[in-house]
Amino acid sequence: MTLRELHDAARAALDPVHYDYVAGGAGEERALAANGRAFDRYALLPRVLRGAERRDTGVDLPGARRAAPVVVAPTAFHRLLHPDGERATARAAAAEGAVLVTGVAATTAVPAVVAAAREAAADPAVWFLLYPHPRREVTEALVRRAEEAGCSALVVTADSPLFGRRTRDLRNGFDDLPPGYAAENMRDLPGAPPGALTDIPMHPAASWRDFAETVGMTTLPVWIKGVLHPADARLAVDHGAAGVIVSNHGGRQCDTAAASVDCLPAVVEAVAGAVPVLLDGGVRRGGDVAVALALGAAAVGVGRPVLWGLAAEGETGVREVLRTLLDEYDHTLALCGGRRNADLSADMVVRGDAAW
Ligand code: FNR
Repeated sequence: MTLRELHDAARAALDPVHYDYVAGGAGEERALAANGRAFDRYALLPRVLRGAERRDTGVDLPGARRAAPVVVAPTAFHRLLHPDGERATARAAAAEGAVLVTGVAATTAVPAVVAAAREAAADPAVWFLLYPHPRREVTEALVRRAEEAGCSALVVTADSPLFGRRTRDLRNGFDDLPPGYAAENMRDLPGAPPGALTDIPMHPAASWRDFAETVGMTTLPVWIKGVLHPADARLAVDHGAAGVIVSNHGGRQCDTAAASVDCLPAVVEAVAGAVPVLLDGGVRRGGDVAVALALGAAAVGVGRPVLWGLAAEGETGVREVLRTLLDEYDHTLALCGGRRNADLSADMVVRGDAAW
């Protein structure tokens, strides 16, 4: 199935309220639409007569060696979409050599997610996402949990001082998980009775000091997610980030935020090679991966398409999504005369109001 067909199959299979939760964005869904539209404005200038029989598309990232250039972005509540939930996503990502970012909003506890990934590959990369928490001891307990489970990096989401106003969820009254599902990593944290869940509260006053404190709690590399402004990218490096993820949260937070790919070149310039830069938001084709890598991303993250694959066909569906994107990307790289990702460069991208 094409990604479009997997989306349609997922839509047919899902409770419409859960479909809306995944598909939707904040406000009028401007930032969500902008992510996809932005990629339509970029086109490639392929180079010729310099290719190779076989391409090497692997990337070395802090917390992942020889990984696929497509990362499974952190998304919540996989068991809501398929009974196998995060275990299916983990096996599929590991089988395709892709990093999986799990985290506080997973409906499967992190040790089980890492164990599932290890069923599919010898040395899979699973990263753990957390939000800055107002109580330091909660952050510290989550960091230890991720370390003990075998995660190889942490991701701190910085773009959510408040929860986004998700119009569809507000209309549908979707504000909590149905009975039988829980954010399992939030169980048994400091200050809560045994077995009880701690909320994932937003922390409007979170600061760079909090971020640096989290970096200081662990020897794992710590990525920062949700950076759009180049000045923040520099601050992230100054505060110990191992990598920067350019993202507008899939259009689910600030509805007037710019499309993430439009922010990528300035962030890459600001970071100046000090740490790798990832991009997510609106990546739907191998050509989008090629554009992002040419503009300086080390890899891209994919959110919704993975969830459509999961809802439509479980582990098989997630593998199909990743394989499709990776095959299309490899094909595009070959057509651009590339042997490896670094052969794509910014001079090979043109941007116009209507490139297509
Ligand atoms: C997300 N995303 C997200 N990001 C994050 O930092 N923490 C989270 O808990 C979640 N949860 C989440 C749930 C769902 C249902 C979606 C669709 C997305 C955002 C995600 O990591 C990523 O930034 C975007 O999904 C990328 O955009 P695309 O690929 O969906 O266009």
